[in-house]
Amino acid sequence: MPTGRVFTTSHMAAHARKRLPRAIFDFIEGGAGSEAAVARNRDRFAQIALMPQALRDCSAAHSEVTIFGRRYAAPFGVAPMGFADLVRPGTDRALASAAKARNIPYCLSTAATTSIETIASIAPDNLWFQLYPGSDETIAAGLMQRALAAGVTTLVVTIDIPVPGKRPRDLVNGLSIPLKPSLRTILDVGRHPAWLLRAALGERPGMANFVADKGSMSGLAHAEFVSRQLSCPGLDWRRIERIRKAWPHHLVIKGMLNPQDALAAERIGADGIVVSNHGGRQLDSAPSSIEVLPAIREACGDRLTLILDSGVRTGDDIARSLASGADFVLLGRPFLFAVAALGLSRGPTGIIDILRAEFLNTLIHLGCIDPTELGGDHLWPRQGSNR
Ligand SMILES: Cc1cc2nc3c(=O)[nH]c(=O)nc-3n(C[C@H](O)[C@H](O)[C@H](O)COP(=O)(O)O)c2cc1C
Repeated sequence: MPTGRVFTTSHMAAHARKRLPRAIFDFIEGGAGSEAAVARNRDRFAQIALMPQALRDCSAAHSEVTIFGRRYAAPFGVAPMGFADLVRPGTDRALASAAKARNIPYCLSTAATTSIETIASIAPDNLWFQLYPGSDETIAAGLMQRALAAGVTTLVVTIDIPVPGKRPRDLVNGLSIPLKPSLRTILDVGRHPAWLLRAALGERPGMANFVADKGSMSGLAHAEFVSRQLSCPGLDWRRIERIRKAWPHHLVIKGMLNPQDALAAERIGADGIVVSNHGGRQLDSAPSSIEVLPAIREACGDRLTLILDSGVRTGDDIARSLASGADFVLLGRPFLFAVAALGLSRGPTGIIDILRAEFLNTLIHLGCIDPTELGGDHLWPRQGSNR
C-alpha cells in the first residue's frame, strides 16, 4: 500500500499533528503529569544497542510468530484504545480490517467506539478483547459473555487504572468529564474543517459496548457511569482470580511492571501479561516497560507469554523488545496517527507494512532468520540469555 512521502511512524505523527484538532491530538499523544514516563519510554528504547552477527545466510528470513496458538505475520499487534473514532468515524473498523488483511491481532477496548459484535463480524480471527473489570462485576461478566459469544479467545484484562490518570493536556483543553471545551479548543476545531465535516457526517462516537446500560440516562450521566466502570480502586487479585475461573480461553493481564506481580499472575493461572505503563498515561513516575522487561523475564522464565507495549515506534524497537525478553509487542498511538495522516484505507495497512518491513530489515541485519532467535546475545553490552 503506497504511503506517499510518509515512511516512518514519526512522519505519521507529524502529519497527524497538522490534521487533527489540537485537543484530539493532545488526547492521543499526551501522558500523565509532566509526561516524564512518556519521554522515558522513548529514551530507554534509544539507549539499547543491538549487536549484529555477521555472515549468516538470512535468505529465508521471515517475521512470523506464533502466540496463543495462532500464527501471525509479525510479532506486533494493535493495542486497545478507547475513543479511537475521535480521529475519524470508522477508525476502529479500519484498524480491525487491516489487522485481518495483514494477519496481526487487533485488541478492541472496553471503551471502544465500536461494539464487540461489529468488530467480530469484520475480523473474527484477529480479534482480542480488552476488559476493564471496573467496579460492577455484573457488567464485566456481561462483556465477557459477549466476547465469548463473538468468538474471542484472548481476553486482555487491564489492571493499571485504579483511578484515572491526571493528564494536564486534557484538563487545559477541557477534554474531561463533564466535557468543558476551552474557547481555544472550540476555535481550533473550526480551523480543521475536514475533521469537523467528517465528524459531523459520521456516526457520533459513543461508548458502543455500553449502549444497553444507557437506559434513560442523560449523555452526561452515561459518560460518568462508564467512566466509573473503567477505573476501580478496589480491584484486587481475588477479583482477577474470579475472572480467570470464568474465562475459558487465553487470559492476559495488561499493565504490569513489577516482577513480583508477574509471578502472582502466573500463580493465578494467567497465560500472559502485557508489560506496560499504559503509554505513560497513568503513573508519571513509572519505569518504562522496556527497562523492567529483562527482570520480569528472569523472574518467570518461559512460563508466561510476555507482551510489551509503551513507546514502541520502529522495527528496531520491536527487535529490541524481543531481544530483551518479549514474545510480542503492541503499539498504540502510532495506529491512530496512521489513520489521521493517511486516512482509513491507506493508514492502517500502510503502518503495518512499514513496521513489518522495518522489523524484517533489522532481523536480517542482526543475522537472524526467525524472530524467536532474538535474545540476550543481540544486546550490547551482552545481557545473557533473556529467552
Ligand atoms: C488514545 C488512547 C486510548 C487508550 N485506551 C486504552 C483502553 O481503553 N484500554 C487499555 O487497556 N489501554 C488503553 N490505552 C493504552 C494502550 O493500550 C497502550 O498501552 C499504550 O498506548 C501503549 O503505548 P504507545 O501508545 O506508546 O504505543 C490507550 C492509549 C491511547 C493512546
